[in-house]
Amino acid sequence: MNTPSKKRDVWGSKIGFVLAAAGSAIGLGNIWRFPYVTGENGGAAFVLLYIIFIVLIGVPVMLSELAIGRHAQRNPVGAFRKIAPKSLWPLVGLMGVVTGIGILSYYSVIAGWTFGYFIKALGGSFSNLTSAEQSSQIFTEFVKNPYQCIAYLFVFLTATGFVVLGGISGGIEKWAKILMPLLFVLLLLLTLRSVTLPNAKAGLEFYLAPNFGKINAGTIASALGQALFSLSLGMGAMITYGSYISKKDNLAISAGYVCLFDTLIAVVSGLMIFPALFSMGLDPSGGPGLVFVVLPSIFDKMPGGIFFGAGFFLLLTVAALTSTISLLEVAVTYFVDEFNWQRRRAVLLMSGLAFVLGIPSALSQGANSLLSNLPLVHLGFLDFANILLGNYSLTIGALLIAIFVGYKWGIKNLSAEITIENNHFYGRPFWAIVIRYLCPVAIIVILLYILLTGNYF
Ligand code: PFF
Repeated sequence: MNTPSKKRDVWGSKIGFVLAAAGSAIGLGNIWRFPYVTGENGGAAFVLLYIIFIVLIGVPVMLSELAIGRHAQRNPVGAFRKIAPKSLWPLVGLMGVVTGIGILSYYSVIAGWTFGYFIKALGGSFSNLTSAEQSSQIFTEFVKNPYQCIAYLFVFLTATGFVVLGGISGGIEKWAKILMPLLFVLLLLLTLRSVTLPNAKAGLEFYLAPNFGKINAGTIASALGQALFSLSLGMGAMITYGSYISKKDNLAISAGYVCLFDTLIAVVSGLMIFPALFSMGLDPSGGPGLVFVVLPSIFDKMPGGIFFGAGFFLLLTVAALTSTISLLEVAVTYFVDEFNWQRRRAVLLMSGLAFVLGIPSALSQGANSLLSNLPLVHLGFLDFANILLGNYSLTIGALLIAIFVGYKWGIKNLSAEITIENNHFYGRPFWAIVIRYLCPVAIIVILLYILLTGNYF
């Protein structure tokens, strides 16, 4: 059942893999979530904490996932089964596959909004906004409209499925090479515009001057949660992408690049957003509505606003697309590897499933009163799905992966996989301690914190 019948695809080049994996990592988490979480949690003090977690938890877990994948050359379930046969470890892989489809379902709803806003911006919907209330009303009406939200969800999943249908080198890698440079250029242009606005300095000062007074247990949990989500860790996305890496590539260096790009884009997104906010005299802690409510009212007042507004929502759309591609690929690789399905069949069924599962999230922003306030939990369906999958499942997944590599597979085997073909594994003793002790302890503490306080990231 689990012996692949055809020759497995591989990334055509090292840069192709780095761009695709960075595409998975760089997403709504960097450009939409990172700036508002930073705004709420003390600016640069939070950024500093975030970077520490990226280096101490993100890099080793990323390296572990990539090494598991490349070693086994299988999907997450098959990879755990190959390395630890006759054990319960494959269930960790299965949890990843299920989580991937679940996250894909609600992530694509928000991604659909970004695409809808791109169309709106192009059509001049944000011209002549007279107040922030008006902008907020446009957003509320948009997300309340069931037909629009479901249609954009459909469009987004169709685009995702189209890319994944092309396979690894002919689909995901090819598109990453087009979409990632586009993303870099858009981000650069928008950041240059933002930092040259009048009074941009106040925004830069807020963002870059650390306010350590705001750091508390909740901020620390947010920083770690954000780091894991942002790097696409804990659900086998990197095991899956790693399973297509050539044995010649240096895994440690590739993992380093992916983490570096992801962090850079998050930090630069802050440089793009805060100066613009301060320049217009707006509140930096605008919450999740920041990009959909606050920013449209800014573009309106800028010279060339339609161009920058549309550019911004196109940037979000592109970032989200390269992430949804990886979310879908996890389940597709699983069914192709384990059940010998044709890729086309796996893509159709899995994106169809994500569409159906995404409908309640699409309706949870006011279109349906039951879904916008679920009984018992008193949360909207989308928020609830994000707590369950984006908070608990990813964190538990990352914890189990660190334990697996630290204690079951072993640092020796990890190191052997990394150093294959004479590649170097710099700082091995340091990473061994980090994977075996620091990662599990830090992740358990954060899990207990969210469990006991109900403060989610
Ligand atoms: N890393 C993506 C982001 O920051 O938006 C989200 C994500 C993609 C999480 C893929 C998990 C994943 F497997």
